[in-house]
Amino acid sequence: MKILVTGALGQIGSDLTLELKKIYGQNNVIASDILPQEKSQFEPYEVLNVLDKDNISSIIKKHDIKIIYHLAAILSANGEKNSNLCFNVNINGLHNILEACRNFQLKQVICPSSIAVFGPQSPAVNTPQQTILLPETMYGLTKVAGELLCDYYVKKHKIDVRGLRYPGLISHKALPGGGTTDYAVEIFYEAIQNKKYNCFLASDTILPMMYIDDAIRGTIELSQADFKKLTDYANFNFAAMSFSCQELADEITKYIPDFKITYSPDYRQEIANSWPKSIDDSQAQSQWNWKAEYDIAKMCQAMMSNLTTKLSNSQ
Ligand SMILES: NC(=O)c1ccc[n+]([C@@H]2O[C@H](COP(=O)([O-])OP(=O)(O)OC[C@H]3O[C@@H](n4cnc5c(N)ncnc54)[C@H](O)[C@@H]3O)[C@@H](O)[C@H]2O)c1
Repeated sequence: MKILVTGALGQIGSDLTLELKKIYGQNNVIASDILPQEKSQFEPYEVLNVLDKDNISSIIKKHDIKIIYHLAAILSANGEKNSNLCFNVNINGLHNILEACRNFQLKQVICPSSIAVFGPQSPAVNTPQQTILLPETMYGLTKVAGELLCDYYVKKHKIDVRGLRYPGLISHKALPGGGTTDYAVEIFYEAIQNKKYNCFLASDTILPMMYIDDAIRGTIELSQADFKKLTDYANFNFAAMSFSCQELADEITKYIPDFKITYSPDYRQEIANSWPKSIDDSQAQSQWNWKAEYDIAKMCQAMMSNLTTKLSNSQ
């Protein structure tokens, strides 16, 4: 069973590809991205722009791909800077992948969505899965349309397409790719290297977050869940923890007592203000037994330990 990962060099792909290789075999997972690899991080590897339909087809044929984890996307903050590219990659790129899935009768496509589908009119606390979806960012708009597109392919073309709405993801392998929750990763690098961080969101901004190990495990668990037991497909709320910027800084201070945080909110504050503070993931819990393992304390312990090792090895 061969798996293709698009956008594999990004924040999630860097971890997810390794985990998929552990489960399904080194040569059964083909990593791809629009970028060439800097060093041989992944083998086999293909350069693939998801806007290039012909190349998607030839890679599927070449490797006899049966499952696609479609991670290639332009994220929220970068999407506001380049809305045309965001629309094109997130909508047309996804459509190309779904069409390829239909033409080649693939077994499954996993396509992440985001808490960016919500907007200021959605309930901000314990936001339900089914609620008003009126995002104010181009990224959020593409994610709502993407969910609807995925569900259309499930219902119309009987294709197995699944997806979850990731909260802000916190990881130590790859840097985040231009999202509004990136502060929650940058803060660890700056705390360890410089003992200070100037945060681009205000101190009391509360957002839903998740440690990468939970995100990867949950993504693979959703992929392996019995399709017949699912009543939702591409729009699962997915949650672990919520905290303010100051609460994260306080947690880091337990490891680095002289760590200092300052705040200079920029254009990303408005995006953060339009998103939920916490998420109700009861559908993921009941339909495919989702349960997070990392809270803020356990996540900080893992980040401090993993990043300290990574940064000292890179010196
Ligand atoms: N990281 C998060 O906190 C987060 C939160 C919510 C949702 N998501 C979703 O998860 C998925 C993966 O996100 P990520 O954090 O790994 O993003 P990322 O920005 O770190 O990685 C995306 C990758 O896609 C590649 N890419 C961009 N345009 C491409 C194209 N035309 N063709 C092929 N590759 C292209 C980039 O080079 C990059 O390596 C996305 O759908 C994103 O919307 C992520």
